[in-house]
Amino acid sequence: MSRARIAVFASGGGTNLQALIDAEQAGALPDGTIALVIADKPGIGAIERAERAGIPAVVIPRKEEGFEEKVLAALRENDIDMGILAGFLGILSADFLRRFDAPVLNIHPSLIPSFCGKGFYGLKVHKAALDYGVKVTGATVHYVNEIPDGGKIILQKAVEVEPDDSPATLQRRVMEQAEWVILPQAAQMVAAELNRKKGGPAQENA
Ligand code: GRF
Repeated sequence: MSRARIAVFASGGGTNLQALIDAEQAGALPDGTIALVIADKPGIGAIERAERAGIPAVVIPRKEEGFEEKVLAALRENDIDMGILAGFLGILSADFLRRFDAPVLNIHPSLIPSFCGKGFYGLKVHKAALDYGVKVTGATVHYVNEIPDGGKIILQKAVEVEPDDSPATLQRRVMEQAEWVILPQAAQMVAAELNRKKGGPAQENA
């Protein structure tokens, strides 16, 4: 079965990467396999999670000269079919996306178009939601284009805001109840679509 080879990009603890790893191990990602983790700095939790799962991880510092060239080389060397930004803080250029020429997904911790775009990441997103006083927030998986959080929406999941929430408690609930649920679901949807286009498992078993 030709599973789509997925590269996961991370900048932090890697809990969204872990959700993808757990989904694959539970058989909930039948059309894809996590083949590479790209970390934009050393010593982050995502690298440990990759190592524990036996997934190759490469560190390509985002601020270094030629970052996108190095990432494109790693994607080519590992025959990657699609990318997933999972707690990744970098912004990929239009030129990079054109040259990679494959689907790239991102998980954003709000219901886009609320609380998204330049400067909205991590706890800042949840602080903005609490400051505004929304009663419902959530997470969004969308395709990546050159506009931060601007690509076509794939999946969203809503989460209730509790009266005594802090940005940290809200972030935790959005991760547990939304991000870690819809990211693996979206990954499977896009991987299955790639396989259909490539004449994947269905044809092979025909
Ligand atoms: C989470 O808030 C996620 O929504 C955002 O980055 C934070 C950490 O993600 N994209 P992770 O634990 O590194 O996956």
